[in-house]
Amino acid sequence: MEFKVNPGGSLSGSHRVPGDKSMSHRSIMFGAVAEGVTHVKGFLEGEDALATLSAFRAMGVKIDGPREGELTIHGVGLNGLKQPSLPLDLGNSGTAMRLMAGLMAGQNFPVTLEGDESLSKRPMGRIAEPLRLMGVDIETEKGGRPPLRINGTGTVNGIHYDMPMASAQVKSCVLLAGLYAKGETSTTEPAPTRDHTERMLKGFGYPIRVEGATATVQGLGRLTAMDIDVPADISSAAFFMVAATIASNSDIMLNHVGMNPTRIGVINILQQMGADITINNERDVGGEPVADIRVRSSLLHGIHIPEDQVPLAIDEFPVLFIAACCAKGTTTLTGAEELRAKESDRIQVMVDGLRSLGVDIKGTDDGAVIVGNTSEGVFSGGRVSSHHDHRIAMSFAVAALRATGAIFIEGSDTVATSFPNFVELAAAAGFDIQVNT
Ligand code: S3P
Repeated sequence: MEFKVNPGGSLSGSHRVPGDKSMSHRSIMFGAVAEGVTHVKGFLEGEDALATLSAFRAMGVKIDGPREGELTIHGVGLNGLKQPSLPLDLGNSGTAMRLMAGLMAGQNFPVTLEGDESLSKRPMGRIAEPLRLMGVDIETEKGGRPPLRINGTGTVNGIHYDMPMASAQVKSCVLLAGLYAKGETSTTEPAPTRDHTERMLKGFGYPIRVEGATATVQGLGRLTAMDIDVPADISSAAFFMVAATIASNSDIMLNHVGMNPTRIGVINILQQMGADITINNERDVGGEPVADIRVRSSLLHGIHIPEDQVPLAIDEFPVLFIAACCAKGTTTLTGAEELRAKESDRIQVMVDGLRSLGVDIKGTDDGAVIVGNTSEGVFSGGRVSSHHDHRIAMSFAVAALRATGAIFIEGSDTVATSFPNFVELAAAAGFDIQVNT
């Protein structure tokens, strides 16, 4: 499947993008091992979170829905999961695989976690290593790749883990395994990463402490069911933030967007580049900050992206590259080698695609140098490959707003993993986009 996005357009209207992917995954995982019935609304009905849902159903958890983003999860408690009869297929989702590896470590049955072609290439040594330190029997394929075989014995050893990289998935994996440990398990991260696991565990009444960069769980506690209202995903809203910034005569409102401080790097970076973004009606929804975000067209200028913002915007770089292409001057990204280990090598794939659209960009080991262009037609039309990476496909769709010809984006099927109604919402906001099957 490919997108054809015709050049030009202005963005307008008031829109709500789908629910946060990180929180949707966690709502199922934690609801499943909680005691009692958890109600979720605003759940992202994308393929990734649905893979997590199917995995827990396969382990005997009764889940009603989703119906229009609403779910009811009948929790079975930390020790109530049943051995699945088949390997658990987690599709495209690194979050599902890494977080579930932690939970599976504490079960008293063996389980295999597998995924699609993209997930099968992603590094799992980063979670296998700390789990082994916790005494978990976990096998990977060569080079630490999936599938993962975890032979749980029902208990793990608590550890303190000094994380070698800033990764919320690694942190969450260790903390979730720590739920099954005698005593305490803690992680220290080299830079702040998204803290939805810590916040949601607290919401479920689980004993967890956060002091600076260190999070500590007490093992063998219990989660008590709660109601969860998942805000709109700031990572999905980001496509429209950049779109409304670079398209002329645009003015849009993005409603009910999650504004967790560990996720707002994209707003900080765009504002530093001169974007006109205002935050309205800030409120707290179930322990997470939420706001309505207004974005109007503006002229951007290139910057050296501060490295401390990189983990806070880690999923938004493909679309930030598009913003940088439209900025006056040069934008430099450093300290972002993690981008090479996402659903695709996001540095290489963006460099290849943007070069083919006429952009002056150079990839580096840990980032890129992008020479911006403020003319009306920044990108030539043409054909690019998303390498089946959802965020790459949506980023090139945004580029079409400033292109001189149509952009054809191959492999756009995986957009359904995180943003199933992207095409409808983009069209409603002012994109001229169609799907060719
Ligand atoms: C996620 C953490 C991030 C992010 C991913 C979702 C999570 O990955 O890229 O899309 O839900 O914990 P890392 O923690 O590996 O950087």
